[in-house]
Amino acid sequence: MKITKAIIPAAGLGTRVLPASKAVPKELLPIVDKPALQYIVEEAVASGITDILIITNRGKSLIEDHFDRAPELEERLIAGNKTDLLKETVRAANLANIYFIRQKETKGLGHAVLKAKDFVGNEPFAILYGDDVIIGDVPTTKELTDAYEKYGKGVVGIKSVSPDVIGKYCSLAVERVADRTYKVSDMIEKPAPDQVLSYFSILGRCVLPPEIFEILEHTAPGAGGEIQLTDAMNELAHKEGMMGVDYLGTRYDMGNKLGILQANCEVALKHPEVGEDFKAYIKELAKTL
Ligand code: UTP
Repeated sequence: MKITKAIIPAAGLGTRVLPASKAVPKELLPIVDKPALQYIVEEAVASGITDILIITNRGKSLIEDHFDRAPELEERLIAGNKTDLLKETVRAANLANIYFIRQKETKGLGHAVLKAKDFVGNEPFAILYGDDVIIGDVPTTKELTDAYEKYGKGVVGIKSVSPDVIGKYCSLAVERVADRTYKVSDMIEKPAPDQVLSYFSILGRCVLPPEIFEILEHTAPGAGGEIQLTDAMNELAHKEGMMGVDYLGTRYDMGNKLGILQANCEVALKHPEVGEDFKAYIKELAKTL
């Protein structure tokens, strides 16, 4: 079955990037000239996704505006003959069928995902975390949906993280089955040092069967008092097994300050409009460091 639905949880409070995220949703913070969330929607579309549910919260209605038409702005761009900017502005509104729902209470990623139950229905679907931008030649969600179709099991996007930060992420028990592909048999969110299963963690993307919703309905709050998607996926892994794909793209964590700076710097260096000037600037700046 072709996977055409995706959800993007974007209801978190973004406390790690305050005060930037006080009034502007962190998911809309730009990488050079495009909000993080648009990169994520574009990745979904490039992976064959046609219908996207974005899970938002109070104070996040700017997200809806970004994916809407902007008649006044468009008229101004038409009058000024700014055809390229006009095309870009309209394109953001026509990327996919985008729907919105509010989480209402910020009780964790698992709780946010459960809000998508009716939207998803009885088919497998992708989850793209709203603050994880992945850039690369192959869309990551496509790598994961391909693996789902091949193995018939839930798939998580995984990357190896350094031992000093594994406690902030989740840790996976894995067994390699093919190039960049693993069986995942166990997982733990925010492990204590003696609970670490491996340095592989789930970073930003999953493709899950609809059975995850039955599990989420009885998943108790876990690490940090939040309803953790990891706990529900662990139950799924124990029941039916799951797969992990060490995806090709580079992931930028737009939920923390360093991640935002890295994303902006690396994308700016390759940017068609400002890339050359930015490179010259960085080279000069580097001499002074
Ligand atoms: P984070 O763990 O980055 O959550 O969530 P956060 O609360 O936004 O971040 P900090 O720790 O306060 O800085 C990962 C993704 O899950 C969403 C977030 O919006 C983000 O895209 N999320 C998290 C929800 O949609 N609802 C939640 O209750 C928690």
